Amino acid sequence: MTDKKASLTVDGLGETIELPVYAGTTGPEVIDVRALTGKGYFTYDPGFVSTASCESKITYIDGDKGVLLHRGYPIDTLAKNSDYLESCYLLLHGELPSESEYSEFVNIITNHTMVHESISRFFRGFHYDSHPMAMMCGIVGALSAFYHDSLDINNARHRIISAHRLIAKMPTLAAMCYKHSQGQPFMYPDNNLGYAENFLHMMFGSPCNDPDVNPVIARAMDRIFLLHADHEQNASTSTVRLAGSSGANPFACIAAGIATLWGPAHGGANEAVLNMLEEIGDEKNIDKFVARAKDKDDPFRLMGFGHRVYKNFDPRATVMKETCDEVLEELGLGDDPLLKIAKRLEQIALEDPYFIEKKLYPNVDFYSGIIMKAIGIPTDMFTVIFATGRTVGWIAHWHEMITDGYKIGRPRQLYKGATTRDFPERATRPPANPSIF
Ligand code: SDX
Repeated sequence: MTDKKASLTVDGLGETIELPVYAGTTGPEVIDVRALTGKGYFTYDPGFVSTASCESKITYIDGDKGVLLHRGYPIDTLAKNSDYLESCYLLLHGELPSESEYSEFVNIITNHTMVHESISRFFRGFHYDSHPMAMMCGIVGALSAFYHDSLDINNARHRIISAHRLIAKMPTLAAMCYKHSQGQPFMYPDNNLGYAENFLHMMFGSPCNDPDVNPVIARAMDRIFLLHADHEQNASTSTVRLAGSSGANPFACIAAGIATLWGPAHGGANEAVLNMLEEIGDEKNIDKFVARAKDKDDPFRLMGFGHRVYKNFDPRATVMKETCDEVLEELGLGDDPLLKIAKRLEQIALEDPYFIEKKLYPNVDFYSGIIMKAIGIPTDMFTVIFATGRTVGWIAHWHEMITDGYKIGRPRQLYKGATTRDFPERATRPPANPSIF
């Protein structure tokens, strides 16, 4: 594997620990620290800022250069020349499909878009105002109750059937969450429509009125799915890998990914961006909010800015911004007040020394919410759409982990609690005075 070594000396250890260093096809080299356990040491890396958790061939990010490759293809190239389902094929299989492979894949996905009729009964248990992400966590996890024929994770055929079912059914389930919240009947998928077009049909069509979907809006929706498809070992993808390492079925693993994505620091940021722009309300208030974002004593952060990896523009944000302009132009919303606030906020932040010094740039979530709001998608559905696009990335990493071979993920810790102590009789104990949990 390698001739390169790192040598570690520890005060008082009396020996030098030699650790192998591995190089990938590109990106930082890694130091294999597995030997440390045998020497009585763990590595310490809260938040996994400096930890490579696995090998992967799916997605590469260069945060300093603002580069994002899916199987070697730059994200802006895919956004311009490909579509979501072709990119799904690429992420799953490693190569772009031929004409016949593409047609067959589209046909398979199209013919898996319906869900079991019993699933519609699950929604009756949710109040109409349940958060759609709460519904998605429950419903996607429950899919494993329906598909007993594809739960053997060691069977490649089962894995690919589950992948097809999840990619195909997520838009249907997402639209069902929206319809439930609106008190409207669910719309069945239409096999004559494209993937994004079908989603918008299920979202905004009704038995009484089912207008054709605007092709510019459908293309924008497809691009939103594509731009969210995968992103290396982010929090939700790492969750899916960890869940999968226990042998859990793919539907349970994806439900765990959905739950993780919900957080405002992760996929919930697009919803948080819109809420923030609406709270700012007017360009004259921007300076106040930027000051709050810079105030160490104020937990407020500029949502849609910053990234664990990108210390340059998020290349997805650049494409998303172009798409935003296209959609608002098509819908005659070029002077949308929220867009004006967003563009002014971006300009101020990019000129502010605090953001420049901390390399805080707009990320994928900054403009996506404005597009989705313009299309008529409610804010609480934004992360559901992120999850729908990201499902293929989660499944691709889950599949890669299983085919590459894996151990159950089981991190250790730096223990700072009490050491062994005697058990006092209750009558003799002083008040515990517990702090609030
Ligand atoms: C996604 O990982 C992925 O790939 C995720 C994702 C994907 O596709 O899967 O790309 C999707 O999650 C995009 C990120 C969406 N989240 C947001 O937009 C929420 C706002 N952003 C921040 O919460 C933050 O930037 C994070 C969580 C995204 C990244 O945080 P890090 O890497 O843990 O960095 P940090 O919190 O240590 O911040 C570094 C410094 C801190 O200041 P100091 O303590 O060094 O003085 O920058 C500051 C932070 O206070 N900072 C911000 C800020 N983000 C970081 N200050 C103001 N506003 C912000 N948005």
